[in-house]
Amino acid sequence: MAKISPPPGTADIFPDEMPLWYRLENSAKTIFSRYGYGELRTPIFEYTEVFQRGLGDETEVVQKEMYTFLDRGGRSLTLRPEGTAGVMRALLNTDVMNGNEKRVFYIGPMFRGEKPAAGRRRQFHQIGVENAGKVAPELDAENIVMLMHYLEDIGITGAKLLLNTRGGFADRKPAEDALRAHFAPHIDQMCDDCKIRLDKNVWRILDCKVECCQSIIDDTPDATDNFSQESKDYFKRVCELLTAMNIDFEVDPRLVRGLDYYVHTVFEVIHPGLGAQNAIVGGGRYELFLPNTKKPMVGVGFAAGLERLMMVQEVLQVAAPESENRIIFLVSQGEAAREFNLRQADLLRRAGVTVALEVEAKSIKAQMRAANRVGASTVIICGDNELEQGLLMVKDMKSSEQHELPVDNLLNFCLNKE
Ligand code: HAM
Repeated sequence: MAKISPPPGTADIFPDEMPLWYRLENSAKTIFSRYGYGELRTPIFEYTEVFQRGLGDETEVVQKEMYTFLDRGGRSLTLRPEGTAGVMRALLNTDVMNGNEKRVFYIGPMFRGEKPAAGRRRQFHQIGVENAGKVAPELDAENIVMLMHYLEDIGITGAKLLLNTRGGFADRKPAEDALRAHFAPHIDQMCDDCKIRLDKNVWRILDCKVECCQSIIDDTPDATDNFSQESKDYFKRVCELLTAMNIDFEVDPRLVRGLDYYVHTVFEVIHPGLGAQNAIVGGGRYELFLPNTKKPMVGVGFAAGLERLMMVQEVLQVAAPESENRIIFLVSQGEAAREFNLRQADLLRRAGVTVALEVEAKSIKAQMRAANRVGASTVIICGDNELEQGLLMVKDMKSSEQHELPVDNLLNFCLNKE
């Protein structure tokens, strides 16, 4: 039959892949909750203006990558390209706006209409956290410490933490003027995108990857030199705290991040085991504006791309998690035995045992093949004759050892096998 593929940049995730996803998700839930974070689930689409205003009209995500459509009433909706704006929208009417702290994490799909490539998808999954409501370098540092704790827990070694500061909004203008003054005389030699960025979003020139722009970008004076003393002190404190907590990092003056809501601390974790799309985590402190609000929502957070975390785990050969369920397979020989097994399967499953069996009449050989296919650890064979005598036959699939089991002991035996 003809195969119907999912749309480019999306993928089906089959049951046998789920243990890899559960490991990333369970570890996040365990670790983030130790730091006081609770899960928040927001819709996967929002009013378009939440992202336009939240992420910034001039950002590449808003300009080129959003999946936007009209609902039946003519309102413009957008599939979420990231989690922060929707989370802030949900927290808008909580006491976060009065300076109280709120810690939330989220797990789920995000959508960006990018050109699909290795590690770059149109539907991808993020685990993210947001610590909203308060501003303090200690919170930025703690957020990063938690991230490194998480990466360690899921077996990711050899990653590099890049750190930079974007200063406060008030620092932007003088820093942008200095950047423009540097790039303007060379702009004719730079790529077409950078020519547009010079006026629209000069910071983005700093992370341009096009060859002809590199030497000019390399000579850029450090934009953070123009920041206020207060902003410089804020960043210095974050760096001091991370050093005191034994976190390795590298300050990268070219790290600007692609979303406009960032202020002060920004960071990215990259892994050399990946190709061009080597950022596994991105985050930072932000002041995010929502439609019709005059005051921004403040917070600090990050999001990790689950597909990319799994790619790194594969490169590092982090052992796949062992299946937690031991599967007991019930084999029946004869009509009465099959009925008996159907009843027992229900009883055992209610008691917490994972049971597999063929519900239709099949040969013993076919049933044993099925037991192998599902990876059963133990097979319990029941025949009509044996049933009359009250005896079952147990076979250990690893050692092939067999022994008899009184019918009345079945539940106890299976529970002890768990
Ligand atoms: P971001 O850097 O745009 O930040 O995305 C975070 C992570 O999502 C990336 O480091 C990458 O691992 C993954 N990712 C992004 N785009 C794709 C894609 N097309 N395919 C596969 N993976 C992708 C944010 O989204 C911010 N909301 C993070 C944040 C939270 N900042 C503060 N709080």
